[in-house]
Amino acid sequence: MSPALLPGTGSTAPPPHPNRGATALSVLTAVTQTLATAGARRRRPVTAVDRTLLVEVHAVRRPCPDVAELDLVPAGAEPLPGWRPGAHVDVELPSGVMRQYSLCGAPDDRSVYRIAVRQVPGGTGSHEMHALRPGVRLRLHGPRNAFPLATAPLYLFVAGGIGITPIAPMVRAAHAAGVPWRLVHTGRDRASMPLSDALAVLAPDRVLRRPDDVAGVPSAAELLSGTDADAAVYCCGPPPMIESLRRALPAGQRFHSERFSPPPIRDGRPFTVRIAGGPDVAVPADRTALDAVRALRPDVPYSCRQGFCGTCHVRLVEGTTVGDPAGPGLTALCVGRATDGTIVVDLGR
Ligand code: FES
Repeated sequence: MSPALLPGTGSTAPPPHPNRGATALSVLTAVTQTLATAGARRRRPVTAVDRTLLVEVHAVRRPCPDVAELDLVPAGAEPLPGWRPGAHVDVELPSGVMRQYSLCGAPDDRSVYRIAVRQVPGGTGSHEMHALRPGVRLRLHGPRNAFPLATAPLYLFVAGGIGITPIAPMVRAAHAAGVPWRLVHTGRDRASMPLSDALAVLAPDRVLRRPDDVAGVPSAAELLSGTDADAAVYCCGPPPMIESLRRALPAGQRFHSERFSPPPIRDGRPFTVRIAGGPDVAVPADRTALDAVRALRPDVPYSCRQGFCGTCHVRLVEGTTVGDPAGPGLTALCVGRATDGTIVVDLGR
């Protein structure tokens, strides 16, 4: 699992609008454009943004002991593409490792992208991110948006720890648009809860910062306490938090989520991945093809582990798959599973 913040599936309600990125956007424009797409009824896959940006680390701050907040500025004269709340970028680290991080700064500021990264013990990506210093140049891909902010009469935002990063621009957008909102931010302790103190300045009575060491681990009922049935609920945090909210919300209430880790495998069946020109790989019921293949071929790249980034997509030579968002003739090793026992893939992509 990547320690990066990983946009994922989870919306049970409408209106995606993949980040088109290239135009300057004000916060108000972002919300207004979201309104225009509100009629969409089903979540569409994230549109791949085939765009590479060269940026330079301009500043590194430590809002929490284990969180690095980085300002990334264009390495050239061109301003950065615009983005919308919920967007993320793929960061190509000097080692070649790719990780995804939500943009947590101001969408209308095209002079800088801001990301915040929690250091995870043993996490190669976060360790490398924390070692970055001003002046280092990086390649980014995107921005893309798998967690768009849809129009709603009011919002409840719930963030677990570093899950505040995509939520923070949403809060500011809702506030700027005059839409009522509340934010609940949880974490181990106050020292592990970045960004929300600045949001509390906007409207102190709308922000509940709830450290577990003081208030205990919250139940879904506590997180949702006082939530209006019309509210759109946006949650970014660990899978148990997301699942508990999903189960607790009444049917029909709009719920959008972004998780830190891959979705659990439900009702998985074992199958075989036959690597063209290579060995057969047995995929157990509780593992992904990506994990099984990487046990033999650790060079196979991945990033999101949720099917949408395209990093692990390979050519599907034979067989069919289920739960697979990759296009025709391809399979996403991280989520696709063979329909009938065996698939043949070409790792040469
Ligand atoms: S790792 Fe992103 S699509 Fe598989």
